[in-house]
Amino acid sequence: MVAPIVAAAGAHVPQALAQVEDELRRAAAPGGTQLDRAALETVAAGGKRLRPLLAIIVAGRAAGDGPGSSPAARDAVVRGGAAVELVHTATLLHDDVLDAGLLRRGAPTTFARDGRAAATCLGDALLAAAFTTLAAGGDADAIRILSDASRDLAHGELLQREDAWDAGVDEARYLYRCGLKTGALFDAAARLGALAAGEDDEPFGRFAAAIGVAFQLFDDVLDVVAPPEQTGKPRGSDLLDGTVTLPLLLARERDRELAALDLRGITTSEAAAQVCDRIAATGATERTEERARELVAEGVRRLPAGLDEARRTALELVARGVVDRRL
Ligand code: IPE
Ligand code: IPE
Ligand code: MG
Ligand code: MG
Repeated sequence: MVAPIVAAAGAHVPQALAQVEDELRRAAAPGGTQLDRAALETVAAGGKRLRPLLAIIVAGRAAGDGPGSSPAARDAVVRGGAAVELVHTATLLHDDVLDAGLLRRGAPTTFARDGRAAATCLGDALLAAAFTTLAAGGDADAIRILSDASRDLAHGELLQREDAWDAGVDEARYLYRCGLKTGALFDAAARLGALAAGEDDEPFGRFAAAIGVAFQLFDDVLDVVAPPEQTGKPRGSDLLDGTVTLPLLLARERDRELAALDLRGITTSEAAAQVCDRIAATGATERTEERARELVAEGVRRLPAGLDEARRTALELVARGVVDRRL
């Protein structure tokens, strides 16, 4: 996946990602306790590492090994990338409790395997590990950026539960929720990269927030159309936990029966899959993808005007990648 991105952004990208992996393992498991072993296993289970990738690309040459680079910048971006990924992993553990998610990345979730208490506590521990990691760098701005994002995430997840099964949710409310639960952490990842390089974090944050929302829109499309082999989770999971997403909102405008459907009546995966087919038949998933692509274009327009070609190209590839999931 990253070959064209590496070609644009530089050979230091895979090296920095490997350092993030080491840092993640160190941070997740500082001792040999039962909690540490579980944390290590969770972190080692993988994921696309999209947010650390974003931080590393934004940091650019400063975090490389050529002219203009510095070990301090590299250390800062590795810490930032690891911290963001730890928050992401923690929120997925918590998200699977909130959504009653049984399958993630093709395997049973901690919630499914070990229960609510284990998933909650493990998520808490990883969240703490994220801030321990950042604290080692001593940059108060970095800590503030990540804690603001963590708070937004919690807020977004809370609103999503509040909105569950609510037919009155509109597109503006949905987009607001996506900004909080997904856009905010992309925003933080990019800002931490900019901070590591000593650059203005604002435009990079605004770019990343937009592509983060696009990423969530596309995730919500995949929930409707993609086979479990591709996503690692069953189709229609959002319907089953009452989450009203944009594909459903748009489909309801065109299909009266869908508009009148009581979402609480969808209780089996077969029923959910049927409703997914119905949503897809209205063209709502294509229209949602179109919105996601518009958000990506908007994000790209927010990049700083004088940005060097290497970063611009790499960031555009990441931006496009979030809406076709080749990443
Ligand atoms: C999943 O994020 C949660 C959403 C924001 C949709 P990712 O798709 O980045 O998760 P992993 O880490 O790669 O599994
Ligand atoms: C994203 O939402 C979860 C977080 C931002 C924590 P989803 O609930 O759609 O994520 P998946 O589909 O479970 O990965
Ligand atoms: Mg979920
Ligand atoms: Mg989802």
